[in-house]
Amino acid sequence: MKNRGGVSIKIAVMTMKGGQAKTTLAINLASRIAKARREVLLIDSDIQANVTTTFKRDHHCNLANVILGRVSNFEFIELERHLSFFPSGGEAMVEASSYLSQTRFKDALFKNLLSSINHKIVIIDTAPSWSDVSRNILMYVDYVIVPVVTDYLGFSGCDQIMSYIDEFKESKLGQCKAEVLGIAITRSQPRTNLSQTITEGLRERWSNLLFKRVIEESVSIQEAPAFQQNIFDYRKGRTRGAEMYDQLCKEIMRRIIERQKDSL
Ligand SMILES: Nc1ncnc2c1ncn2[C@@H]1O[C@H](COP(=O)(O)OP(=O)(O)OP(=O)(O)O)[C@@H](O)[C@H]1O
Ligand SMILES: [Mg+2]
Repeated sequence: MKNRGGVSIKIAVMTMKGGQAKTTLAINLASRIAKARREVLLIDSDIQANVTTTFKRDHHCNLANVILGRVSNFEFIELERHLSFFPSGGEAMVEASSYLSQTRFKDALFKNLLSSINHKIVIIDTAPSWSDVSRNILMYVDYVIVPVVTDYLGFSGCDQIMSYIDEFKESKLGQCKAEVLGIAITRSQPRTNLSQTITEGLRERWSNLLFKRVIEESVSIQEAPAFQQNIFDYRKGRTRGAEMYDQLCKEIMRRIIERQKDSL
């Protein structure tokens, strides 16, 4: 995947609803891109610090401490070849969040602080909330991927975040060029009527945005983090979960390339 003039492509995995597989998608997308030998940085912005929980890796140089001005130089954790990780700082994100709230969107502090990051691809895992951190992330990224679980509240969560992103962009509170790259079904039980109905509803409502590859409920996807692994390394990638995520990630990468071409 090429990007214009060596500039980073930044993607947030975002929805305010909890448990939609934001972290699972962020980790696996970052890993898949790294396996395609692109330099990827995975940033955790969630107080729950679930990427740290998964890989048992943490560092004083984290997002909260950068926002709070406690560290000035970036140091990243190397998770695997081509894949770096920048932890959130966990609870320190509470203070960082209230500090960000006191700044003006116009000043784009978050975006400016991260402006020296030059990895080809930056992927941000986000918290299940809608806050000033979310808005600042929207001002920093180029694209948003919205994950959704095919149940009633999942659908409604998807609807909410799509409206909130639009409203924020229209409000012109800050300069926000983020576009929704797509909606990814991250947990579906295709044999149930509910799952089928919700999938159909998502297709009708966001036909251009919904990724075709649906991630089904899978034990391997649930097990991989317990072994501190992404889905492609877990059980040497010989799982249905790895196959599904491989197809979804390829579809995401193709869409990024298309969007980049369109914007030239
Ligand atoms: N396709 C799947 N099949 C089975 N389990 C899954 C699947 N996708 C994700 N999970 C599991 O669902 C749970 C929630 O996933 P995850 O932590 O990625 O969601 P999240 O949106 O990041 O949650 P939060 O809102 O708390 O940050 C985890 O235990 C994860 O392993
Ligand atoms: Mg999470």
